[in-house]
Amino acid sequence: MAKERILIVDDERLVRWSLKQKCEEWGYVPVEAEDGGTALRLAHSDPPDLMLLDVRLPDMSGLEVLEKLKQSGEARGVIMMTADPQLDDVKAAIKMGAYDFVGKPLDFDELALTLQNALEATRLRTEVESLRGEVRRRTGYHDVVGVSRKMTELMGFVRKVASSEATTILVQGESGTGKDLIAKAIHYQSSRQDRAFVAINCSAIPETLMETELFGHEKGSFTDAKAMKKGLFEVSDGGTLFLDEIGEISQFLQAKLLRVLEDQVIRRVGGVRDMQVDVRVIAASNRDLERAVREGHFRQDLYYRLAIISIYIPPLRERREDMMPLVDFFIDHYNRKFRKSVRGLGDETRRLLINYDWPGNVRELKNAIERAMILEEEPVLRPVYLPFSVVQPHSGVTAFEHTSSPHGGGQPLAEGRWLPPLSIPEGGTSLEEVERALVELALRQAGGNQTHAARLLDISRDALRYKMKKFGLMHADEESATADTPQSEA
Ligand SMILES: Nc1ncnc2c1ncn2[C@@H]1O[C@H](COP(=O)(O)OP(=O)(O)OP(=O)(O)O)[C@@H](O)[C@H]1O
Ligand SMILES: [Mg+2]
Repeated sequence: MAKERILIVDDERLVRWSLKQKCEEWGYVPVEAEDGGTALRLAHSDPPDLMLLDVRLPDMSGLEVLEKLKQSGEARGVIMMTADPQLDDVKAAIKMGAYDFVGKPLDFDELALTLQNALEATRLRTEVESLRGEVRRRTGYHDVVGVSRKMTELMGFVRKVASSEATTILVQGESGTGKDLIAKAIHYQSSRQDRAFVAINCSAIPETLMETELFGHEKGSFTDAKAMKKGLFEVSDGGTLFLDEIGEISQFLQAKLLRVLEDQVIRRVGGVRDMQVDVRVIAASNRDLERAVREGHFRQDLYYRLAIISIYIPPLRERREDMMPLVDFFIDHYNRKFRKSVRGLGDETRRLLINYDWPGNVRELKNAIERAMILEEEPVLRPVYLPFSVVQPHSGVTAFEHTSSPHGGGQPLAEGRWLPPLSIPEGGTSLEEVERALVELALRQAGGNQTHAARLLDISRDALRYKMKKFGLMHADEESATADTPQSEA
């Protein structure tokens, strides 16, 4: 491990000299500063692990130095030194985040111990913070942004539900409204937060595997079952199981799920023993489940069970006040991710974003900001890099989207294919923008299924993926996922 660096701040040469000797003896690397200004400069340019800070300095008081460090978030691991400890100073310093106070003349044995403890404390704190950040980064959980009345009320309800005893919760809303995010918000605000949050997309797993995925199986329960496998209900015991796209599960599993939800008891496939589990199930759907019930695709009793606590996230177009706070949030996010310093939106860009209806909701907005931030070189986002559909919401290409049957407009082409009704806006457009808009449209129409989208455009899936990459429509994780593993969806 690298030696810890200790910044010694004192205007008396002799004090600095003796501290320097001791620090070296204790195996640290000492760095010196004789006044507050120098200390602050060093703390910014190359933050030390600890700082020994005298209260009385020639240019400013040690407390002022501490205050400035606090403002820039660097006040950790500061040990104050003083010949004349005033209780008020001590209190103020500790409040500002100083770790400890030592009296002068210095007792070096005591100081050695204080340094050790302070280093241990900062180490632990850094560790906890990075773990917490890691957990959040890996689960993709971050704060839910929203200032509209609808969202603030919803978040109030979410908090209440999170801390309640409810074991089943249903989250509904159009695609991209934030169902995954709300599910995580419930989990991370509940007493289950230190246990597992397990998510499964019911539409992504073949029906035949779904049962063992959820309930596990015993060794030898079928030909391929060479070993016992725990199901997700067991894995998420004590925590939360997120069943995304619940509307897609088979009738057989619907019945099985209902029993589990009612009794909190599971049995592995091929097993003979019932197991008690304590799992909170959050189910999500972007289909209208009530309608699925009416049409006989979804069991009514299961729906009632799930809908005891039901959360509906309204589409973004019904809460336009949330748009700008979301934009700010995403700009901030991508500034950090891409190391950029975009300040905000140009006036025209803001107007376009607010006027657009965002059928893909928050996800579509997020993707639009991401793309613009990748391409923009100015400090303010201009409309040029906005998706075509946002800039020309009523142009021919997007009108195509509302045309459910090919007879809604357009020109017949050979072999029964249709050309969408197109018009070129007055200011002109570029072929690439139109191509991009069509690729986006196909993906949206295909619900994100690439094979299906490629078919809509009569190109190969590889060609589609190439275009998605080219237009920045592919997520970074998707890109890297394809580098080493085959796509599960194909
Ligand atoms: N209120 C919000 N604040 C911040 N980010 C949000 C908010 N709502 C959604 N997002 C972000 O938008 C993206 C889409 O959200 P999410 O995946 O939760 O949508 P969804 O409703 O689950 O969509 P789908 O039905 O397609 O699964 C995510 O990156 C999410 O973090
Ligand atoms: Mg989702």
